[in-house]
Amino acid sequence: MQNLDELSSEILSAVEAADTTDALEAVRIDALGKKGRISLMMRELGGMDPEERKTAGQTLNTVKDTIAAAIETRQAALSRIALDARLAAEAVDVSLPSRPETEARLHPLSRTIEEVVAIFAEMGFTVAEGPDIESDYYNFTALNIPEEHPARQEHDTFYLPPDEEGRRKVLRTHTSPVQIRTMEVTEPPVRIIVPGRTYRSDHDATHSPMFHQCEGLVIGDGIHMGHLKGCLIDFCRAFFGVDDLPVRFRPSYFPFTEPSAEVDIGCTRDGGGLKIGAGDDWLEILGSGMVNPRVLANCGYDPEKYQGFAFGMGIERIAMLKYGIPDLRTFYDSDLRWMRHYGFLPFDAPSIHAGLVGGTV
Ligand code: PHE
Repeated sequence: MQNLDELSSEILSAVEAADTTDALEAVRIDALGKKGRISLMMRELGGMDPEERKTAGQTLNTVKDTIAAAIETRQAALSRIALDARLAAEAVDVSLPSRPETEARLHPLSRTIEEVVAIFAEMGFTVAEGPDIESDYYNFTALNIPEEHPARQEHDTFYLPPDEEGRRKVLRTHTSPVQIRTMEVTEPPVRIIVPGRTYRSDHDATHSPMFHQCEGLVIGDGIHMGHLKGCLIDFCRAFFGVDDLPVRFRPSYFPFTEPSAEVDIGCTRDGGGLKIGAGDDWLEILGSGMVNPRVLANCGYDPEKYQGFAFGMGIERIAMLKYGIPDLRTFYDSDLRWMRHYGFLPFDAPSIHAGLVGGTV
């Protein structure tokens, strides 16, 4: 027992010297573990006479507690050191300027979708989505395009191989099936827009077999053609950034809307150039109409109670018009020089307040 002081200070300096959690644990086991030096001394107490055992026991317990406390303090210090080292190693200098010239660009299609979503979000629309591979029912039948309807041929549909029962799925030819999917599971009022990929077997300077549309659907009590017109005129003016942009509604036909209207915006064409705004010419940019009562009934809505309007537009088309991109096929070439020219800075998010005309660099 005479060298207990010595042993204690030896252990305490070992605790201080331990510079990793593992080293500290080794010191702890060597002192306080089952076969540790202090524990073995504790065991010897049993052989002493009662008086001696009492004083020696007290002394040993004090030493044991001191060592345990020192280990705990050292453990806390080591954790702090480890954390400091990690923070230093992972430090990010947030004051460093960004280097936009080395950044990637946002594709004009992504940008255009963001702009369309921003405008309609401001009007209270939410974004809905549906699958690219559709059943014949959602893509055609529920939209009042029955078998043998000429519109089926016009859609240049890509069919998948038939299943055991001879049913063929299709690559959706428009975003309109999401109208049906939404109405089936939602009670009116409905106010959605649906950006997404669509497919038709067609390929030239203005058609691509895969392209993008954005659908819109509004259903409620007392919705009429005036709402359709107001909504789409506001959209066209906000999207093209022209406050007095002329917008014209031309009678048309879609099986799923009645009446139907195609929407044109004013423009001028002189010397090969195209300028959007008041002029003597028109450009078609949207299909629209009041939802056909048969479509409402197909989705379980009472057409006597609810009315609505729907519209659909080609994203590539409005992107080409707004940003002066002459050839549709270049959208899918993944040509970095094209992206550098037509792409957008990823952090330059469009909003009604900050502006919808993206800054290219
Ligand atoms: N689905 C139509 C198309 O692809 C566009 C449209 C949508 C027309 C909704 C009217 C209403 O051409």
